[in-house]
Amino acid sequence: MLNIAVIGLGWWGRIITDLARQSDKLRVVRVADVSPSGEAFAREREIPFSASFEQALADPNVKAVVLCTPHSQHTDQIVAAARAGKHVFCEKPLSMSRADVLRAIAAVEQAGVALAVGHEKRFEPPILEIMKLVKSGALGTPLQVEANFSQDKFLTLASDNWRLSGKEAPAGPMTATGIHLLDLSVGVFGEADTVHCSVKQLGSPLSNGDTLAALVTFKKGGHALISAILATPFAGRFAVYGSQGWAEVRDKTHPEAPEGWTLTRHLRGEHRATSVDLQPAPAVLHNLEAFADAAEGRAPYPVPRAEMIANVSALEAIFRSAKSGAIEKVES
Ligand SMILES: NC(=O)c1ccc[n+]([C@@H]2O[C@H](COP(=O)([O-])OP(=O)(O)OC[C@H]3O[C@@H](n4cnc5c(N)ncnc54)[C@H](O)[C@@H]3O)[C@@H](O)[C@H]2O)c1
Repeated sequence: MLNIAVIGLGWWGRIITDLARQSDKLRVVRVADVSPSGEAFAREREIPFSASFEQALADPNVKAVVLCTPHSQHTDQIVAAARAGKHVFCEKPLSMSRADVLRAIAAVEQAGVALAVGHEKRFEPPILEIMKLVKSGALGTPLQVEANFSQDKFLTLASDNWRLSGKEAPAGPMTATGIHLLDLSVGVFGEADTVHCSVKQLGSPLSNGDTLAALVTFKKGGHALISAILATPFAGRFAVYGSQGWAEVRDKTHPEAPEGWTLTRHLRGEHRATSVDLQPAPAVLHNLEAFADAAEGRAPYPVPRAEMIANVSALEAIFRSAKSGAIEKVES
């Protein structure tokens, strides 16, 4: 069992804590938040509470941290945790710039600790199936990704919430939902080459932007068309088109409470596309357990570090393009 401390007890940190407590691979030995509201949450669950990240890090019983804190803090917290010899699961985005993700990964490599990232979509059964179709060659040459991750949960946030700020959430919906689709696109195509992104405020009071469209091109060829909206009800869709066929998943609900998926595929030679409904699965928990397996040496974490770097590098270029309106080159 991996002894973890969950850092940041807001929306996602509470979900993660309660999920991890159901696992026989993880033991939540501490939680931490700078806000006193976290203490009541910890007390209800009888979990030791720290009022700061640093205090949690100092606990020798904590072997790993799960960072559910605001985005701009991630890199420094990964570096500090690695230096303290703790394994790190960090919520997305891992970092906000290529320079920072390289710094984070250098720190974990130097410390020899495991690193995982909160891209649970990679652990959803229909995504695992689509990735299998891509990697086995069943879809032929991957040509294009079309993807959408939209939700309206932020309409109830106070206007000064960090998740609506240009500093913590550049390019509007990108760090909230678009980043998951970028991660999957990198999983299909590898390193991105250029990005062109537009963010507008069209249907809500979210002045940081509620509607994002991004076109990403990849070094190996292929495009990803990414759509992310914060002013429409939940929608989740990820489709890969290849020279021999295509596959698409439609999510029934947000990953916080999965109710299953519809997976549709059409391979060349088949009379028509066929769809199957897939049962719900706890992908967020499966990601955390894959982290525990990596930290305790049972299996490598399935997301390669090169893809973590490629994702953040493309993210940074999207931030630039959303500002400049121009096609931006992705650094490599
Ligand atoms: N994987 C997913 O699908 C998913 C979904 C939602 C959020 N997230 C990610 O989770 C992270 C947190 O987002 P959220 O929506 O829960 O935000 P939130 O504002 O609800 O919670 C953040 C919490 O962190 C606390 N905090 C801030 N600085 C801290 C510090 N230095 N030490 C300890 N606690 C600190 C805050 O007091 C707050 O309680 C973000 O990275 C976000 O992108 C991921």
